[in-house]
Amino acid sequence: MTPFRNAWNRVIYAGWSLVYNGLIQLPPYRRGRELLWRMAEPVAGERVLLVGVGTGIDLDYLPAGATVTGIDLSPSMLRLARRRAEDHNRAGRNLGVQFIQGDAQQLPCVEGEFDLVVLALILSVVPEPVPCLAEAVRACKPGGRILVFDKFLAESAQPRPIRRIINLLTRVFGTDINRRFEEIAAGLPLKVCEDRPLAPGNSFRAIELRHTPSRPAEQ
Ligand SMILES: C[S@@+](CC[C@H](N)C(=O)[O-])C[C@H]1O[C@@H](n2cnc3c(N)ncnc32)[C@H](O)[C@@H]1O
Repeated sequence: MTPFRNAWNRVIYAGWSLVYNGLIQLPPYRRGRELLWRMAEPVAGERVLLVGVGTGIDLDYLPAGATVTGIDLSPSMLRLARRRAEDHNRAGRNLGVQFIQGDAQQLPCVEGEFDLVVLALILSVVPEPVPCLAEAVRACKPGGRILVFDKFLAESAQPRPIRRIINLLTRVFGTDINRRFEEIAAGLPLKVCEDRPLAPGNSFRAIELRHTPSRPAEQ
């Protein structure tokens, strides 16, 4: 199933790449991302991994001189991310960026390589979110941080029938709106530092996690 859904994601995100830069300026995407980066306060010198980098919008929030790796399945999205990085560097931001075409569920990087791993709008997109988050944990150094921005069902909530129906459609277009963060993170060595909804009851959440290898998952 995963190879088929990855192949479909490549097709669907080639299509989304035509309008994506406009789409992510819409609320709640823009406000959610601003919330995430206000919480995160990235530090100069951190090695940063952007998983499912898309068109590279998160580069806008990183400090000048940051060292960044962006991974994405879609060559079309990566093309736009490269262009954005070039624009930043022409503006003198001196980002050290490399882009890799790869699968977020099997990250092409070594254990503990990054200080900060960012999962923005990717846990709802990959076919299998559990290995995706587990891979982010593997890529993150012990004590490092993982940032998540996405839409999730509340832990104990059952999706309403209308939401189930809408989800059939959104899944075709590359996003599952009925995943629960707590189920995805269960059993992983993570401490939740902050978990903020975009607004009370809103399913968009910005979550800051710390990789804590010596302790079991804590919610
Ligand atoms: C909704 S976009 C999010 C992009 C970016 N992180 C952002 O916040 O704007 C989802 C991205 O995930 C990528 N993607 C989908 N499946 C993937 C996979 N298995 N591995 C890596 N990237 C994937 C898509 O190509 C797309 O660029």
